[in-house]
This record gives sequence, structure tokens and C-alpha cells, in this order.
Amino acid sequence: SKLDIELAAIEKGGYDHFMLKEIHEQPSTIYDCLRGRLDAEKGTITMKGIQDNIQALITAPRYIIIACGTSWHAALVAEYVIEELCRIPVEVEYASEFRYRNPIINKGDVIIAISQSGETADTLVAIEKAKEQGAFIFGIVNVVGSSISRASHAGAYTHAGPEIGVASTKAFTAQLAVLLMIALKIAKEKGTIDNTKYSRLLVEMHELPEKVEAILKNASQLKLIAEKYKHSVNALYLGRGYNFPIALEGALKLKEISYIHAEGYPAAEMKHGPIALVDDQLPVIFVATKDEYHAKIVSNIQEIKARKGKVIAIITEGDEIIPSMADDIFMVPPADEIVAPVLSVIPLQLLSYYVGVAKGCDVDKPRNLAKSVTVE
Ligand code: G6P
Repeated sequence: SKLDIELAAIEKGGYDHFMLKEIHEQPSTIYDCLRGRLDAEKGTITMKGIQDNIQALITAPRYIIIACGTSWHAALVAEYVIEELCRIPVEVEYASEFRYRNPIINKGDVIIAISQSGETADTLVAIEKAKEQGAFIFGIVNVVGSSISRASHAGAYTHAGPEIGVASTKAFTAQLAVLLMIALKIAKEKGTIDNTKYSRLLVEMHELPEKVEAILKNASQLKLIAEKYKHSVNALYLGRGYNFPIALEGALKLKEISYIHAEGYPAAEMKHGPIALVDDQLPVIFVATKDEYHAKIVSNIQEIKARKGKVIAIITEGDEIIPSMADDIFMVPPADEIVAPVLSVIPLQLLSYYVGVAKGCDVDKPRNLAKSVTVE
């Protein structure tokens, strides 16, 4: 009825879809996630679940992060960040694999479970199994009181609010924000980060909401790019370092929302297979923000252009090299490479959204997908 339609519109806060609403909520959801925890002026991070278990976390021989889907991509970013800042070995596992093999869990190992819903069956069973073997379980969950939060010994909520769109967006950036805070806090307590870098990164974290806001102001640019590429059959996403998991997440989002076959790869791995796909029809999306790999990714772009691939590049404002090489660019504000994934994923979420809408797909409820996979 007309009333139902009007009520639905109110729920979506004036946006056409929950997915778009939730993408646009990210400045405030990231802010909510940091609020009461990160104080850039005082240089403190307050997280009870971490403080109460700081000895176990500092002395752990290893962290194993368990997750599925988009949450698994957040885990991959965390692997790079925790190893760099905390110098603790990190392994990332798909929950479905972990639960059915006979994984080695040593005394003192810490298991981190990441889940938006807190109800994913594989993740829940995986932590129950690890618990039986004596592991300490730290949950990073969005839904308060959910099964995974209850099954964990300690944890941190992501505070992103209810996520309705089946494909995760705002929960992912909140997971990244929590994981970054955890890494910074542990590095500080463990003494593996110097004070200058620590303070600078806290300020960078604090600046994330306004930088995300700046990106969202340019969303219409991605709509135009989406129009150009909506008829593509395949797409390739490439990134290096901290942006490699973002390439995976970009590809997953496009698959989920627009049903275009997409693959994500570490940029240098393209030579070992995906480059065979490149022709003048293939869009190749580079996550190429300014970091220590920049010169390397520039040469990867040249390799794609030499084979007539179409290059769409997510770059840092002020990049003077890539704009002349790429077919399409989208600029994000400068940021330290450790926090950059929170920014570089936003245009990829929007690109998928606009391609999905242009193709007439049900972006909030893609076919065959479920918001939380509570059966295996
Ligand atoms: C499903 C959802 C994804 C989500 C994944 C893991 O596949 O469609 O968006 O990333 O489950 O869910 P979780 O709730 O454990 O993060």
C-alpha cells in the first residue's frame, strides 16, 4: 500500500536503499566506534576488554583471527597491521576451514573472532572448538548480546548500529576501526611503537570520519564510472600491502551486488594468472593510494595499459603520476597507509552499489545471499 511504501522510505532515511544509507552513515558509525575510546589529544585508547586482558594479549605467542566473508577481509587488514605494529605473529583463517581441520592451538594463543551478526554458524562453532582446547577468545562483534559475543571471553563491540543491507558496508569500516585501535593499544603497551608514530596514528584515526565525509561528497563521480562499466562481464581488483584485502573486498562487493564476476588479487600476483584475462574490455580497479608500494603499483598499471585493459584507480589527492595513466580515477584524502583501508574501501562500496542499481539488481537483498549464515 501507499502507507507501506512511505514507511519504507522513512526507514531508509530518504535514501533509495539501505545499502546507500548505510554507506553514507559511515562518518557517524566510525565516529561512534571511536567515541569514548580514542582520545587523540590525551593520546589514550580506552578499551576494557583489552585492558582487562592485557598480559595475555601482550605475551601471546600468536593470534589467530577467525571470520567469514567481509569480516574475513577485515581480519586480513588486521594481520598486516598487528604484525607491523605489535610484532606478534598473526594467522587468518576462514571459520569454515578452521572448524573442520585439526588446527594447532598452543598455550597462550589468542583467538580473535570477527562477526557483524555474531550469529555466523561456522564462526561460532570454530570458537567453541578453540575454547575447548584452552584458547582465549576475543570477539569483535556488531550485534550486542549475539551468540558470538556471549561465547567470547572478552571483546569489543563495533557500535555500527543495525546493518540491514545484506552485503556488509558500515560494519566493515567499524571492524577496521576497532582492529586498528586494538593494534595501537597493544603496540603501545608492548612498547613496539614509538611515541611519535603512536600519537600521529591516533590523530589519523580521529580524522577518519571527516575524511570519509569528504569522499562521500564525491559519490556522484562513481555513479558516472558505474555507468561506463555496467555491461562488463568480468572485473579485476588489484592492491598491495594494506590495500590488498581492500581489493578482495571490492571484488566481493561487486559480485554480491551486481553479479559481475570479479576477482581480487595482490597486484604483483596478476602476472601469475589474471593478466591472461586482460583485453580492451576488462576493467581493472587499482587500489593505489600513496604508500610505500606506490612505485610498484604504478608499474602494475603500466602493464595493464600495455595490454589495453581499462584502468580505474583509487588514488590519493595530489597523485601526479596515475591520473595520466588511468582511464578513470577517484581521489581520496591523504592518510597514513595503516588507516588508508578505511578510506579506500568507501569508493569501492559506492561503485558496486551504482553498478548494481544501474543493472536493476536488488542491492539490499542480492539473490541467493543471506545476511547471516546460521546454517553451514
Ligand atoms: C554473509 C553476509 C556477509 C558477511 C558474512 C559474515 O555472507 O552476507 O555480508 O560478511 O556473512 O557475516 P558475519 O555476520 O559473521 O560478519
